[in-house]
Amino acid sequence: MCTGSIRQGGGALEDIVSVTPVGEPRQKITVASLREKKLQHQTITCLTAYDYASARLVDEAAIDIVLVGDTLAMTILGHPDTLSVTVDEMLHHTRAARRGVKHALLVGDMPYGSYHASADDAVRNAVRFMKEAGAEVVKMEGGEKRADLIRRMIDAEIPMAGHIGLTPQSVNLMGGYKVQGKSLAAIEQLMRDAVALDRAGVAFLVLEGIPREVAAMITEEVATPTIGIGAGPDCDGQVLVFHDILNLTFTPPAKFVRRYGDAAALITDAVHAFQENVVSHQYPADSESYHLSKETQQALETVLERKRGMRR
Ligand code: KIV
Repeated sequence: MCTGSIRQGGGALEDIVSVTPVGEPRQKITVASLREKKLQHQTITCLTAYDYASARLVDEAAIDIVLVGDTLAMTILGHPDTLSVTVDEMLHHTRAARRGVKHALLVGDMPYGSYHASADDAVRNAVRFMKEAGAEVVKMEGGEKRADLIRRMIDAEIPMAGHIGLTPQSVNLMGGYKVQGKSLAAIEQLMRDAVALDRAGVAFLVLEGIPREVAAMITEEVATPTIGIGAGPDCDGQVLVFHDILNLTFTPPAKFVRRYGDAAALITDAVHAFQENVVSHQYPADSESYHLSKETQQALETVLERKRGMRR
């Protein structure tokens, strides 16, 4: 199980002191403040959110980064993997999340196919995330081979995030969702990937599904903040999927997922109670109904009485 960014005692003072002094209004998180957090050894928090309500709750809980990840293909749209979600679908959800986020950094996620055909296409799609959906950073999967494209995006004023290790859009190439970076050759490649993206200037780097030791080496090596998911506790920050931490995925959780609540049980109980109340006529009660004023009620009664008299 992933211990995540929760330091269980014994942390250095910088780790437990917030960037925002107590009592002061919360600062807007920016790409620069993420860098600052890394320098100050302050752990970065990130959760996915895909709509107004969840994004607002995540933002109000002082999470640093709200990621509208392409995992929404699975969690929201019910697809078996992330491959089929489209740019338009991603933009729709990013716009909804945008309306709920005030302080966190809002990150859009380029779906499979949106940056694979040509660099021009990729830049045009990434610009849509910023222009049409209000994303502040755009994330793309892949390492060294994406470094030039990431430079090109940054030249187009698009702050970019990288994502290496277990990259779900490559599920068919990887032959499943397998932990990456387990051999010496794979570790060397991951290190090259991380350094290439760091040099290209990514705002942060997601490390997914790699051994703790490898994530720690990368975190030490690069200037950009690393945000781990299934990458152990030594990253600069941690990200989890909203639906995973709330038991809303209908599948057994991965080893690194920690469940912080059971929204499935909460929703099921509430829906059952509603269903039972309705069929047993306990809902709605009179106090949950709207009423006519006494005068209108009397006038209505008079009209109805007159109609009844005419019928007789
Ligand atoms: O799409 C997503 O939600 C992600 C996170 C799992 C990092 O990329």
